[in-house]
Amino acid sequence: LFDPVKFIEEVKPQLEQIVDGKAIAAVSGGVDSTTAAALAYRILGDKVIPVMIDTGFLREREAEKVKSMVGNLMPLQVVDVSEKFISELEGISDAEEKRKKFRELFYNTLSELVKKYNAKYLIQGTIAADWVETQGGIKTQHNVLVQLGIDTERMWGFKVVEPLADLYKNEVRDLARYLGLPKEIYNRQPFPGPGLLVRIVGKVTKEKLELVRKATKVVEKYLDSMDYSQYFAVIFESTSSYEPEISKGVGCDVYTYTAKATGVKGDVRAYGRIAKVECNNKDYEKLRKVMEKITSYDITHVTVKVGEDNPEGKYTIGIRAVLTQDFMTAEFAKIDWEFLEKMESEISSLSKNIKEVVYDITTKPPATIEFE
Ligand code: XMP
Repeated sequence: LFDPVKFIEEVKPQLEQIVDGKAIAAVSGGVDSTTAAALAYRILGDKVIPVMIDTGFLREREAEKVKSMVGNLMPLQVVDVSEKFISELEGISDAEEKRKKFRELFYNTLSELVKKYNAKYLIQGTIAADWVETQGGIKTQHNVLVQLGIDTERMWGFKVVEPLADLYKNEVRDLARYLGLPKEIYNRQPFPGPGLLVRIVGKVTKEKLELVRKATKVVEKYLDSMDYSQYFAVIFESTSSYEPEISKGVGCDVYTYTAKATGVKGDVRAYGRIAKVECNNKDYEKLRKVMEKITSYDITHVTVKVGEDNPEGKYTIGIRAVLTQDFMTAEFAKIDWEFLEKMESEISSLSKNIKEVVYDITTKPPATIEFE
């Protein structure tokens, strides 16, 4: 059983090396980084400067909300660099390129803050699963540096301190609770470091960013009170083509989009197509069988259409909600159809450019939780 008191005693020496200078603690508002910052602040006081970078790819009013949630534990500063991030990332389509560019911008920003405050260290909330996945080549987690052999001192002028590097998510949540972080933080669903950037499937544009931000707000409003592990919206271009062969095999109309999304093949992340099925029945058991059959093609995410479409629109909004213990495997949530239709009509009314709303019915594997 994880003992937060014992853990704090064990990790103290690692933090106390920061006696010879200040440290910037990068907070995303997620449980890991917020806990790492709160722990460091508790041990080192104002040698630690907690900052949240508003990258422009956060959810609506997210920085503001996080600042008020942690306000009684540490003085969090919000640094708004959203314009720079958006203009540098606009136009990029490739998922790994997006993550790499995001990482570069992110650490350059931290490097400037380190200089500004005359600090020597960066405290971040990397946990065990982050570097395990990066080393396995599954994806480039944006916060994994040290384990990849990156010389942060030479590149950005700071040493990295990762007090939670050996912990697993549930242990971090226990620690967060012990430190007095609010429930909204320690029970928060995970949100990727690059944020909405990886939920704009394909080319990044300002319009897609604003639409996915609004759609996310609707999805969260409907699903916050459910017990799903993670739930969100994605956006991609609606261009698709009918697949006669695949359709014949499953007795439903199957379309595949030009947008590509990630799945897991063996142990690595692999790209495949996103499919949409239109079946007469909305029985999840039957849909699950369809999903299993068509993912034997190079299809990584299978979706079902919800409600009617708007032929004038050009974007598809995908809703994803999953249940999982460890985020390594996941089940899709069997959301009531009437409920999905309510979400659909609210999302469709956000913009005339939204053509349709689809619901993701893929397990992990063969899909990943995210689309990129
Ligand atoms: P996948 O898509 O690999 O996601 O099935 C598993 C979990 O990891 C989260 N995720 C990320 N978290 N930086 C993060 O901090 C990232 O780049 C990143 N990519 C995925 C994802 O939201 C899910 O909880």
